[in-house]
Amino acid sequence: MKIAVIVGSIRQESYNLKLAKLLQDRYQKELEIDILDIKKLPFYNPDQENDQIKEVDHFKKQVKEAKAVIWVTPEYNGTIPGVLGNAIDWLSRVDRVMIGKPSWMMGVSPSQLGTARAQLHLRDILFAKGVLSPVFQGHDVQIAGIQSKVDEEGYINDEATLAYLDKVIPLFKKWVEKHN
Ligand code: FNR
Repeated sequence: MKIAVIVGSIRQESYNLKLAKLLQDRYQKELEIDILDIKKLPFYNPDQENDQIKEVDHFKKQVKEAKAVIWVTPEYNGTIPGVLGNAIDWLSRVDRVMIGKPSWMMGVSPSQLGTARAQLHLRDILFAKGVLSPVFQGHDVQIAGIQSKVDEEGYINDEATLAYLDKVIPLFKKWVEKHN
């Protein structure tokens, strides 16, 4: 099952990117995960939304081809990072490729809130008219205190976190199958 993962951090050593990579490696039998690059997207500009911008077209095509999107994002100032909002703005216009496409939210943070506030905002955005994405709920992935849950190279090795993911990934897969 083809899944697009969109990471809300463009930082090279991003913990959220590491979570995305963990999903890609650990669940490769269950999910065919593509981690999309939002770094090269220009700022969304209504004057350009009908232009054929290579990066935008490619990004939208990858989302269109996926059965679902997993958003893996940090929290910035109590909400989602601007780069992620920009990516969603592109997806919400013209052919509106997110409409009806299932979503799941995940996030990693060094703080104790584990991106909970950002996810509340993101959920509202996913319900906006140009997005209208059904969101997989009741199985939150909000990983707090990340520094104590990684190995020397920064890869997540916390047993409770991995056991939780092992449990919820098949539930997500079943839920997506029902929505397609
Ligand atoms: C942060 N950080 C942060 N953390 C948090 O839990 N709540 C917040 O509101 C914020 N706000 C915030 C604003 C800005 C501008 C920065 C740069 C950082 C800390 C953030 O969670 C931390 O830097 C993460 O490591 C960022 O995620 P990546 O890049 O590691 O994926």
